[in-house]
Amino acid sequence: MLQKHSTNKDWYKNVCIYQIYPQSFCDLNGDGFGDIRGIISKLDYIKSLNVDAIWICPMYDSPNRDNGYDVRNYFALQPKFGTLDDFSLLTAKCHSLGIRVIMDMVLNHSSNECDWFVSSASSENNPKRDWYIWKKGKTNGDPPTNWEAIFGGSAWNYDAKTDSYYLGTFSPYQPDFNWENAELRSVLFDVLRFWLEKGVDGFRLDAINFISKHPDYPDGTAGPNGLAPIRPFVCNGPKVHEWLDEMKVKVLSPMHSMTVGEADGSSAEDAIQFAKEMDMVFSFDHVALDVGTNFTFNKNIPLPKLKSILSEWQNKLRGKAWNALFWENHDQPRIVSRLGDDGELRTKSAKMLAAALLFLQGTPFIYQGEELGLPNTRFATRSELRDIEMRNAFAAYVDTGLLSEEHMMRFANYKGRDTGRTPMPWNGNYGAGFTTGTPWIKISETYKTLNAERQEADGDSVLNWFRTLIAFRRNNAVIRDGEYRIYNPDHPNVYEYTRILNGSGYHILCSFSRNQIDYVCGFPGRKTKVIFSNYGDDFFSKTGKLRPFETIISEAELP
Ligand code: GLC
Repeated sequence: MLQKHSTNKDWYKNVCIYQIYPQSFCDLNGDGFGDIRGIISKLDYIKSLNVDAIWICPMYDSPNRDNGYDVRNYFALQPKFGTLDDFSLLTAKCHSLGIRVIMDMVLNHSSNECDWFVSSASSENNPKRDWYIWKKGKTNGDPPTNWEAIFGGSAWNYDAKTDSYYLGTFSPYQPDFNWENAELRSVLFDVLRFWLEKGVDGFRLDAINFISKHPDYPDGTAGPNGLAPIRPFVCNGPKVHEWLDEMKVKVLSPMHSMTVGEADGSSAEDAIQFAKEMDMVFSFDHVALDVGTNFTFNKNIPLPKLKSILSEWQNKLRGKAWNALFWENHDQPRIVSRLGDDGELRTKSAKMLAAALLFLQGTPFIYQGEELGLPNTRFATRSELRDIEMRNAFAAYVDTGLLSEEHMMRFANYKGRDTGRTPMPWNGNYGAGFTTGTPWIKISETYKTLNAERQEADGDSVLNWFRTLIAFRRNNAVIRDGEYRIYNPDHPNVYEYTRILNGSGYHILCSFSRNQIDYVCGFPGRKTKVIFSNYGDDFFSKTGKLRPFETIISEAELP
């Protein structure tokens, strides 16, 4: 039975959380778009993963310009997902299965179709004018600053009615709230209360470290397109902690919400500060190593660098804050296509990557399909893409001749956000068991062989590996509290670490190489027993050779 957050505040430290991208999870009414009833129909599957909570991406009423991250009405659901009654049924069923429900909540910006914004835009005297960020242009007619929106173009959008610009950090469809306004803050807190009263157990707060902007609104150093990256002016601004503390005191603490914040551009030191207000934050340094400027990427991620980032977060947060662990989410490509192999060695590399993550200290978030080791979905043409970020990039760079279409398609297929947003492959039937209709985005061609039903039946599948590891780490004191230590940190191919509590614990060995390599462990203690291995034999102990993407987890003792 589910223990209340109020009596078991640290529940999230003992469990894994499963992320659902609802429009691609399961479509029960055949409109090609996932729905709440679809999620309900898959609760037994979710339970079978041994996760204890789900995080659901936004399902609020929205024109869906950014797939729900542009909320039109915070107190209603998008009808395509279902009704509030469906939602109540979902939370009730989850709770009866012992699964908590974490809602995504978008408080940095709303949709430009939100009533609040429509009022705000209607006149300079409207009582809601100050709920958003309006500024006059420069005397030379330029926008107030040269900031570039995250999805491209100027972050300032001109509105002739009042001869002013509004700020849209992400896109014109996502006007930023003005958190300086106390009335606005109190309305946003009411939104949180509304959903907590509906029975949700917590929130994933979208782009929450963007709420406090640089007070002087200065220009940045412009790039070739005349615009300057916006992040330095909106990330972790001067009042972010004051406002988050207010949110915590007024809503999150009294209503026992578990809260994980999305904190792009944050360091481990920042995460420690955020720990005063939220349970944990998502940071992105470890998934940013393969991406360069101008839509370039380099798949040869330097493993020592990746290990040093993971180690820094493990070491610095220890005893001071809590890690949110992840390889994938709805904004990231599939991890086997990135750090592993999405061909012949897909299963081996998916299992290795799962092990590398799941023995770290923190709460792992597993994105739908990651538990099947899904590779990136490949798109043949730009017309198949749905994501606002990539579509804008094509318009701004390909249509203007700055980059070639081939280059941009290569980028879209490697790093574009649609690569992991395609429908969950439940089986090899029409529509991958996701829909009986026409899906809103293409279904990956791999669904006939790569699907949940097949992996269910295969004891050796990635799915069953995940189930086993997730169950193993649940309430495991060593994984929760044990000391983290890395060995051979500069080794280019192997990630070796231990988690030790009171002299004993686990030794985790992960080869990130697609070749067989020689390796000498740096761990000075004794490995007493192999508990998990993705090749299932003692080849390494006999030969000192690690095979492609081999992982071996052993019980271990320090002298
Ligand atoms: C977050 C979300 C992303 C969204 C953006 C704007 O980064 O994860 O999907 O596009 O915020 O809300």
